[in-house]
Amino acid sequence: MSSVIVEQFTPPAGPPTMLGTTPLPRRRLDATGLVMPWAADAATGTRAEILARDFAGIAPPAAPEEFTVEVTGIRDETPAMFTLVLRRTDGHPFTHRAGQFVRLGVPVDGPDHEPVDRCYSVSSSPVLSVYGDPSTFTVCVKKVPGGRVSTWIHDELTIGTVLEAQGPLGSFHLPDVDRRARYLLLAAGAGITPVLSMVRTLAALPGPVNAVVVYHCRRPGDFAFADELLDLAARTPGLTVQLSLGSGTPTDAPDWNFATGRLCADTLSTLVEDACGRRVFACGPPGYLSVAREVAAAVGVPRNAFREESFNDATTSVDVSPTEPVDTGLTVPPMPTVPDGAAPVTATGTTTVTFRRSGVTVDVPDGDTLLDAGRRAGVPLRSNCGNGVCGSCAVQKLTGSVHMTHNGGLRQREVDAGKILLCCSRPDGLSPTLELDC
Ligand code: FES
Repeated sequence: MSSVIVEQFTPPAGPPTMLGTTPLPRRRLDATGLVMPWAADAATGTRAEILARDFAGIAPPAAPEEFTVEVTGIRDETPAMFTLVLRRTDGHPFTHRAGQFVRLGVPVDGPDHEPVDRCYSVSSSPVLSVYGDPSTFTVCVKKVPGGRVSTWIHDELTIGTVLEAQGPLGSFHLPDVDRRARYLLLAAGAGITPVLSMVRTLAALPGPVNAVVVYHCRRPGDFAFADELLDLAARTPGLTVQLSLGSGTPTDAPDWNFATGRLCADTLSTLVEDACGRRVFACGPPGYLSVAREVAAAVGVPRNAFREESFNDATTSVDVSPTEPVDTGLTVPPMPTVPDGAAPVTATGTTTVTFRRSGVTVDVPDGDTLLDAGRRAGVPLRSNCGNGVCGSCAVQKLTGSVHMTHNGGLRQREVDAGKILLCCSRPDGLSPTLELDC
């Protein structure tokens, strides 16, 4: 690491405090459920009083926007993960929902070249300020052996570096209002980052907590934030944190006194008897998520109660949850419609679309997404969220026009340069042909 942290993020000791006040003791609040400060009008009685008194300064989450951030701190969490402390340079508050991510433009090729975009989950809580500064937040970066961007961040990034940013992004987040608020939070490795933001938030807000965290890593030293999570669990009735070594007890850590074993239905149903009645958030690498999906289904979790987020080196953290909304909570307000043409979508004709690099040409009904059409024609196309958020399906449009409505997956300068997101772009019927650089 070429730089040192200049400020430390210190988890609040004792009851969480906001704006210099002390929340009422949790036991005085009988109402169940979860209400975020920006949805306080959904609360009644004591909860409404607490939210109005102690969280009045919390701004509601904004729609995705572009801004710049200055790196004000860097801290190693484990040998394979570190925290970046980021402050908006415009001084505006950074707002988000617990579990969302931001996209950072990383200048790996120098300041004169286009930055490389990567997505990082926000680890700080939207209801607790970092250093008392509403414009400051934290993200976590996983060091990937041989990973170009994470290596650059680790080796080259210094305090004071200014990065392009976009966010908040993603629909993998706690709801604004949830009358049941029973959660099962599954995380593996660096997947703990959005879960940490959720746990910090649940522990800080007024009202009973009913959440179980099951956190898997390969080695004892891989558990980031374990002390903080265990401390929050000890101080928060209703919050349980289970650490588990997926590979069993290692010979070099015979004193490991937490759980061992991979995630499986037997273990989960023993640990969480009412798992089927909980909203599940799962975050980790793709292999872990496929297991989590199967295990959740095996213990009776309905598909629409299961949310997941995956990460890899190219896109550190992207939402891959089903696109249908969950039954409570709000989704991210969509970015304004970005038509690349003046007319609304028509579904009455077809457009001849050429995927130039693949050498495939196909007639596409004007209402179909280009992602669906390309895949039907056998074109190998990358995608992840399917919802215009993550940016993984971005391609360059060479000729023709489309109708695109995205949720923050492209920066405006990329749209201006002719980039489109295949998952949320359709032929608009204004040009008979369309050529794509993929
Ligand atoms: S798949 Fe995520 S933006 Fe298209």
